[in-house]
Amino acid sequence: MDPVFRRRAELGVKLAFLTLAMTVLTMLALLIWRARSYEPIGETVAQPIPFSHKHHVGDDGVDCRYCHTTVEKSAFAGMPSSAICLSCHSQLYTDQALLAPLHESSKKGLPIAWRRVHQLPDFVYFNHSAHVNHGVACVECHGRLDQMPLTWRSAPLQMQWCLACHANPTPHLRPPQKVFEMPPDALENSDVQAVARLLQRLPDQRRMTDCSTCHR
Ligand code: HEC
Ligand code: HEC
Ligand code: HEC
Ligand code: HEC
Ligand code: HEC
Repeated sequence: MDPVFRRRAELGVKLAFLTLAMTVLTMLALLIWRARSYEPIGETVAQPIPFSHKHHVGDDGVDCRYCHTTVEKSAFAGMPSSAICLSCHSQLYTDQALLAPLHESSKKGLPIAWRRVHQLPDFVYFNHSAHVNHGVACVECHGRLDQMPLTWRSAPLQMQWCLACHANPTPHLRPPQKVFEMPPDALENSDVQAVARLLQRLPDQRRMTDCSTCHR
């Protein structure tokens, strides 16, 4: 063989091995970093104030959008400012020690330091409005918040979980105005028609499972 060619071939093989090693290392780093980013499914997260969705949503019937104000409009669902809590708690439970971090936050003008329950890695793109406005209910991904005294994660959030629904979303859809309901009602006739309309507007199957949809 021509020696110049052989040197090139060797270089090529070395480069290929180097790339492979880098990829494996990156994946390992990602996996380790991932494993630390949040609590396992079903485990509650200690918060500065023990906030209960069970009381506020289940018992008092407050709508998700009252506190998560941008869930229909943006990628980020939004976390409540202390002003939102104070719209009720300037009168209710005002002297409770539990609420001290709320009054502190309001006085200093800083947000309450809620700890994350869900957290996707930075290399994944997720968008709430895309789902919520197209008939994917909160309960599909977050479970029965109205029964949670402290918040826990109910879905795995792995790539396979996202893809399973993207490959066959039909059984997971409901009319957009019903996505905030917690115990999901059975679909009525008019709902079935609304879902059929949603299905017509769905991005095509290739787009739904294309890598660049979620990794951009
Ligand atoms: C009265 C205000 C309020 C209402 C109403 C409310 N939430 Fe929340 N939500 C919060 C607060 C405060 C937190 C942060 C503390 C926690 O994680 O429990 C939170 C956290 C969450 C989280 C976890 C966020 C993370 O860190 O990953 C999800 C998911 C969530 N809410 C969904 C919902 C859904 C769905 C509804 C409607 C069924 C709802 N919330 C209604 C105040 C509210
Ligand atoms: C729409 C009115 C309303 C808003 C907004 C609201 N609360 Fe409440 N909160 C209540 C009511 C009513 C209770 C009594 C709940 C019960 O016993 O059913 C309560 C109770 C509580 C309690 C006492 C423990 C418990 O769960 O019963 C805490 C702590 C609390 N709220 C924190 C918060 C925080 C933090 C926010 C903002 C993220 C908030 N609340 C927003 C109405 C509200
Ligand atoms: C298709 C699945 C899915 C649906 C439907 C969904 N969420 Fe989420 N939610 C997620 C994921 C995934 C995250 C973590 C996002 C991240 O880390 O970037 C999240 C995070 C959140 C957070 C934390 C703040 C944020 O945006 O990162 C809140 C609050 C929340 N969701 C509320 C809601 C509410 C309220 C609804 C219904 C109106 C809802 N979600 C519907 C999957 C979903
Ligand atoms: C329960 C079903 C379901 C789950 C789970 C789900 N999705 Fe989706 N997703 C949908 C549907 C339906 C659409 C199409 C919405 C529309 O019509 O534009 C969508 C659309 C999207 C889009 C926008 C596509 C576009 O460009 O228009 C992104 C990005 C996305 N999903 C990311 C994710 C990620 C990341 C996860 C997992 C963390 C996830 N989804 C989990 C049902 C789901
Ligand atoms: C519907 C959204 C979605 C699509 C489409 C998607 N991914 Fe992912 N991907 C994710 C999510 C979410 C994670 C994070 C998984 C986790 O944290 O466990 C992820 C993680 C990864 C990782 C890191 C390793 C791992 O499994 O955690 C790689 C590599 C990857 N995706 C490659 C791809 C490739 C290649 C494609 C196209 C064939 C693709 N993804 C399509 C959502 C998606």
